[in-house]
Amino acid sequence: MLNIDLSGYRALVCGASKGIGAETARTFAQAGARVTLVARSEADLKEVLQSLSGDGHQILALDLNDTQKIAEQLEKTDLKNHPYTILVCNAGGPKAGPLVEAEAQSFLDGFKTHVLANQTLAQALLPGMKAKKYGRIINIISTSVKIPIPNLGVSNTIRGAVANWAKTLANEVGEFGITVNNVLPGFTETERLETLIQAASERFNQTPEQIAETWKGYIPTKRFAKPQETAQTIAFLASPLASYINGINLPVDGGRTGSL
Ligand SMILES: NC(=O)c1ccc[n+]([C@@H]2O[C@H](COP(=O)([O-])OP(=O)(O)OC[C@H]3O[C@@H](n4cnc5c(N)ncnc54)[C@H](OP(=O)(O)O)[C@@H]3O)[C@@H](O)[C@H]2O)c1
Repeated sequence: MLNIDLSGYRALVCGASKGIGAETARTFAQAGARVTLVARSEADLKEVLQSLSGDGHQILALDLNDTQKIAEQLEKTDLKNHPYTILVCNAGGPKAGPLVEAEAQSFLDGFKTHVLANQTLAQALLPGMKAKKYGRIINIISTSVKIPIPNLGVSNTIRGAVANWAKTLANEVGEFGITVNNVLPGFTETERLETLIQAASERFNQTPEQIAETWKGYIPTKRFAKPQETAQTIAFLASPLASYINGINLPVDGGRTGSL
């Protein structure tokens, strides 16, 4: 039987205090990795830290919107002596709403938190990955890079930018044993989904339960994903088992996305 074994690897997981990121940190730890968890809320990070199996894990409370802080804080994690070979770029999705109503600031914030943060993190970690001849950069984005999602104007725009950034980077670093891939979650049972259901409930004047049932109807599996199901996919991509998968957009959406 093949096992996902990440022992000996050091992983930096962003957005690790909740949802998909927290579950990814737990899955990586179960697979033997030493994990550094990043998010803004130190209290939430500490709670997730306590739930991790194994040892050698740490937290880094920082706002991914602040690229200068990212670089400063990373220095504190002994990057040079203990390089990270796995990077999960992940943060909360931009605010929902139609594109015609979106303000310039939302685009700037989304660009910083997603594109510039990813670039800053990757630039800091790539030298260590190259030295180890092993690297996995996995970006959690959205199925909107295949088919734009209504009422997620800013998100659709920013995710497209991240997907193009990732594909370009994959072309540049593949020869060093480093892969860059995107995971595209479908509806996944996290706080983000609750927020989106709430927004739709207000927009369409229906209860959150009615919205949830309608959305489940769009999915061939007729249910939302558990965050663990997404985390297991991310762990596979992070492992040596996925060595020849590079530069792809992988939906984990129960088949909802209506494109090939
Ligand atoms: N859940 C879904 O159905 C779904 C579907 C498609 C795409 N996605 C996307 O997949 C990603 C993960 O989703 P999720 O549902 O796990 O999201 P979530 O439950 O909202 O968790 C987001 C995580 O990112 C952290 N975060 C947010 N803004 C940050 C910032 N500026 N700096 C540092 N950390 C930040 C949050 O912690 P703090 O608040 O403490 O910083 C939290 O740990 C998101 O981009 C989401 O839009 C989710």
